Amino acid sequence: MLSDAEDAVSYIKSIFKSKIPKVAVILGSGLGDFTKIVKIIDTIKYKDIPGFPICSAVEGHKGNLTLAMMDNGKQVLLMEGRFHYYQGYSAQQVAFPIVVLNLLGVDTIIISNAAGGCNPAFKQGDLMIINDHINMTGNHPLIGDNNSNYGPRFLDQTQPYDLALISKAKEVAQKLNIKFHEGVYIGLSGPTYETKAEVRMCQILGADVVGMSTVYEVIMANYFNMKVLAISTITNMATGLSKTKHEHHQVVEVANQITATFSNWVKQIIEEL
Ligand code: HPA
Repeated sequence: MLSDAEDAVSYIKSIFKSKIPKVAVILGSGLGDFTKIVKIIDTIKYKDIPGFPICSAVEGHKGNLTLAMMDNGKQVLLMEGRFHYYQGYSAQQVAFPIVVLNLLGVDTIIISNAAGGCNPAFKQGDLMIINDHINMTGNHPLIGDNNSNYGPRFLDQTQPYDLALISKAKEVAQKLNIKFHEGVYIGLSGPTYETKAEVRMCQILGADVVGMSTVYEVIMANYFNMKVLAISTITNMATGLSKTKHEHHQVVEVANQITATFSNWVKQIIEEL
C-alpha cells in the first residue's frame, strides 16, 4: 500500500507543482458545494492518480482531488468524493487517500459526511461535530502487517477527534450563528439503511448519528498522528425516528440545502487555523 501511495504522491506533486497545503477536506454526499466558495487552482481526477481505487459513480459524489485557495490566500486540498466500504473496496482502499495525504505532508483533515439522526433531539438538516465514534462496520483498515516506522501496532484511540479543532469549530459556529450538536457517530457497512431494531441498537450503544463512511479514514489519520475534525450533516432521521422511508436522492437533497451553511463554517474554520 505504501509503494502505491508513493506513486500517487509523485503524480500529485507533478501536477500540483506549488507547495502542497497542510489542510485537506473530504467532502461527503451532497457537500461538494464547498468548491463554489473557494478559488479552484487545479483538479486531478481520482482515476488518473496511480494506485487510487477506481471510483465508481455514486449519486452526489464526484471523484476529484482539487487544490483550492481561500479568500485569505490560504490553500487547501479538497477530496471531492470518497470511497465507501459498501462499494466493494477493502477497508484499506477506503483509507488509502489518507495515506497519500499524509505522505503529501497534510497534517489536518476535515471530514464531512451525511448521516441519519438516532438522537431523538436531532432533526433533519442539523449539523453535528463528531467527538467520538463506534466502528461497527465489522472491518478495520489497520488489519494486516504493521510497519512500526509509520505507526504503532495497537493504536490508542482515546481522542480520535482533535480537541483544539473542535473548540475552533464551536467558536466559529457561534460567530457565524450556526447551530450545531456534538456527539457520537456510529459507522456501519451499509449499503442498506438500518432496520428499526438496528437503530435502537445504535441508540443503546450511545450513538447520536449513524452513517456508512468516515471511521476508516479517521482511524488511518489517527495512525499517522494527523489532526481530525469531522462534521455530520443529518440528512434524515434514522429508521424508526423518520416518518418516511429513506431514499438516497432525499439524502442528497437535504445535504444540498445545508451545504452553504456547512461550507461557510468549514471555510471560516480553515481561514482561522
Ligand atoms: N443511515 C446510514 N447512513 C446514512 C443515513 C442513514 O439513515 N443517512 C445518510 N447516511
